[in-house]
Amino acid sequence: MKILIASHIDPETVEVLKRHHDVITAFGAEVEELTQLVPGREVMIFRSGVSIAPQVLENGADLKLLIRAGSGLDNIDVDVVRDLGLRMVRIPRPSAQAVAEFALGMILDVSRNISLADRLLREGRWPKPELAGTLIADKTLGIVGAGNIGSRLGEMAANLGMRVIGCVNPRHEPPVETLHALGIEYVGFQDLLRQSDIVSLHTPLTDLTRGMIGAAELQMMPAGSILVTTARGGVVDEAALLDALESGHIAGAALDVHEQEGEGVLSPLAAHPNTVLTPHIAAMAVESQHQIGTRILEFVEAFERNELDSVVVPIEHVA
Ligand code: MLT
Repeated sequence: MKILIASHIDPETVEVLKRHHDVITAFGAEVEELTQLVPGREVMIFRSGVSIAPQVLENGADLKLLIRAGSGLDNIDVDVVRDLGLRMVRIPRPSAQAVAEFALGMILDVSRNISLADRLLREGRWPKPELAGTLIADKTLGIVGAGNIGSRLGEMAANLGMRVIGCVNPRHEPPVETLHALGIEYVGFQDLLRQSDIVSLHTPLTDLTRGMIGAAELQMMPAGSILVTTARGGVVDEAALLDALESGHIAGAALDVHEQEGEGVLSPLAAHPNTVLTPHIAAMAVESQHQIGTRILEFVEAFERNELDSVVVPIEHVA
């Protein structure tokens, strides 16, 4: 098969694909480069960090299969994929545990000032009283988007002694019983904001979620609360968050996803001491990336044998 790999994926998987197929790698390429590389390619593999713009897809006359090595679909126009009659598969499940654990790490980090303490220590400082944090036990964690990832985080947090509340997309039937079984109480979005000491975001970026955490929503959160996001840049209004941090209403925030992402981009939030910022790495657990790689190989093999339907979950049905 003629394959274009547009993003960093599990290195072993790249090696296996290269042994058996004609592979071009263009990790993190810009739209123009992808547009030039795509003619003649039958399969394209990508994840976040690249834009699979309509012009890329339209230039891929031989393109038949798109493999999204992960979850989010905010960097590709699904309508164009459908209009062009392309097959697209996602692999959301293997990274769910990785992202849930990472969000938990961020919650602990901000609550106990771990990254801040590390930064100050490296400056030769030892300010113990200033670094006193807060416990998470007996606090309320609000999970916005209690789905595949959010509900795993909720289950872990409940086991650590937190009260956990969660909400889901209002267009869907709330899975009240399923959440309850994991120790998560279902509440509405605004109630969640009002009741949570810590809010963790786990929504995709859609028309419904863009800017859903702005000045008004941050103000609904209790004074001294914490915001964590491993969702998507654009869900949080970062200027409003910076204002809320500067006023002290929000005590701390951790963001793995940002309005602007990539080399050389530094968010204004980096100037605030009570923020933890990471470069979209929540899914970057070796085990998860390896599982995604295994799935990619299965998809490519099935596609080659013309048996893709037997391994593909239609994109509309993937949580
Ligand atoms: C995802 O959507 O799966 C994650 O953001 C990881 C990624 O693709 O980089």
